[in-house]
Amino acid sequence: MNVLHICANPRPIQESVSKQLAAAFFTRLAEKNPDVNVTNVDLYQNPPPFLTYPTFRCLYQTMVEEGYKPTTGEYNSGAYSRTQSEQLKQADVLVLTMPMWTFSMPAIMKAWLDQVLVPHVIFEFTPEGVQPLHRLKRIVLLIASADRFKENDPRDGLTRELRAIFEFIGVSDMAIAWADGQNLRRYDDVQSRKDMAVEAAQDIADEIAETATAET
Ligand SMILES: Cc1cc2nc3c(=O)[nH]c(=O)nc-3n(C[C@H](O)[C@H](O)[C@H](O)COP(=O)(O)O)c2cc1C
Repeated sequence: MNVLHICANPRPIQESVSKQLAAAFFTRLAEKNPDVNVTNVDLYQNPPPFLTYPTFRCLYQTMVEEGYKPTTGEYNSGAYSRTQSEQLKQADVLVLTMPMWTFSMPAIMKAWLDQVLVPHVIFEFTPEGVQPLHRLKRIVLLIASADRFKENDPRDGLTRELRAIFEFIGVSDMAIAWADGQNLRRYDDVQSRKDMAVEAAQDIADEIAETATAET
């Protein structure tokens, strides 16, 4: 089983709750099944470029122009997308680690998604709808926020948007470990909420390790 881990958080682990969830998750996964193959991408080490016009043409022009061939500049501007989307195509499980920022995902994560969820590699538009070209079965979100969020909270632009994005490419299995209520000035149960999220992350890792074991 291949697990791709995308981390969108510039803070060091001692200061980052979401990175601590990721550490708990991957430690447990390695303990339970050391054969799971994990690839780590730190977006702050290798930042995705925003889509430009040449990149847009390189990725999408085939949809509107029969026989389109990218210019050298357009082809080169698609390099990040090609590498990252091919890597995603090999993944069975995608783990996304990030904070909630401004009720949504960090812009660097959105930039990565814009580069990788591309037609002809990850999915194909067909008259019957979107057909997946990937092997992804499960998405795991490891996230933290200062506020508390109830289920289906209308202020939550993070998990709701990611659910819609991955359902679009045919993946509806999304497991979430969310350390919410991490505002020390406002709440007195910050640590216990974090502990609960760590446990949730470990439980998800257990399930994935078991699935990987059953598949071998
Ligand atoms: C730019 C910025 C925007 C934020 N926006 C929100 C927000 O909309 N809702 C919220 O609950 N917390 C928000 N927070 C707080 C973080 O989600 C919280 O500190 C969380 O613990 C960060 O995750 P980390 O500890 O893994 O870095 C924001 C923090 C920053 C720096």
